[in-house]
Amino acid sequence: MIQIAPSILSADFSRLGEQVRMVEDAGAEVLHIDVMDGHFVPNLTFGPALVKSLRAHSKMRFDVHLMVEEPELFIADFAAAGADHITFHLETSLHVHRVIQLIKEQGMTVGIALNPATPLDGLKYILEDLDMVLLMTVNPGFGGQKFIPNVIPKIQVLHRHLEHLQSDCQIQVDGGINLETASAAVKAGAHILVAGAAIFAQPDPKLAVEKLRQAAGSMKSE
Ligand code: DX5
Ligand code: ZN
Repeated sequence: MIQIAPSILSADFSRLGEQVRMVEDAGAEVLHIDVMDGHFVPNLTFGPALVKSLRAHSKMRFDVHLMVEEPELFIADFAAAGADHITFHLETSLHVHRVIQLIKEQGMTVGIALNPATPLDGLKYILEDLDMVLLMTVNPGFGGQKFIPNVIPKIQVLHRHLEHLQSDCQIQVDGGINLETASAAVKAGAHILVAGAAIFAQPDPKLAVEKLRQAAGSMKSE
């Protein structure tokens, strides 16, 4: 089943609680929370305090996408704040295996993100430890960018490999996902669609979630 993960990066922060409730009511399973440090990516966003305030208002799975250097510094704080899942970038750590174990020890599921130009090779010796691989379909840092079509074959290769391994590891795509690109990503093998602008920059975010699900050609998973 395809899951929709609205990214609050494009939400109206002045009424964030209301916007989160709206996408939850629309059936979104996952809330994608983009954490940026101004070093790994040229932008700044939010930290554990925001996760803590939202936690009381939502039952969705909180999927924290860390775009930060030294991700190990923040894991315990996000766990305490109520995160269910942490994804960090392969490019940000020299001790990837150790950080994966830290996240699991804190009782969360774990994903590794790869920038568009980063090959799949780095996943080889860690894949069986992962719940998710996030294939970036834009360069991380900003919402509202254009989908990079060259990532499609990368999704296909990873999907085939996971099938071959009979792995439950999920493929998430993030960046430039809209009604057109969603179906291409799903066809290639994506399981979780992150969408920011295509949901929160729309006049009716609730309707946008429903349309995206339709475009992905799937019913809501139970
Ligand atoms: C980009 C973030 C994305 C972003 C996607 O660095 O990781 O999650 O919110 O935004 P859209 O869907 O607008 O491209
Ligand atoms: Zn993201």
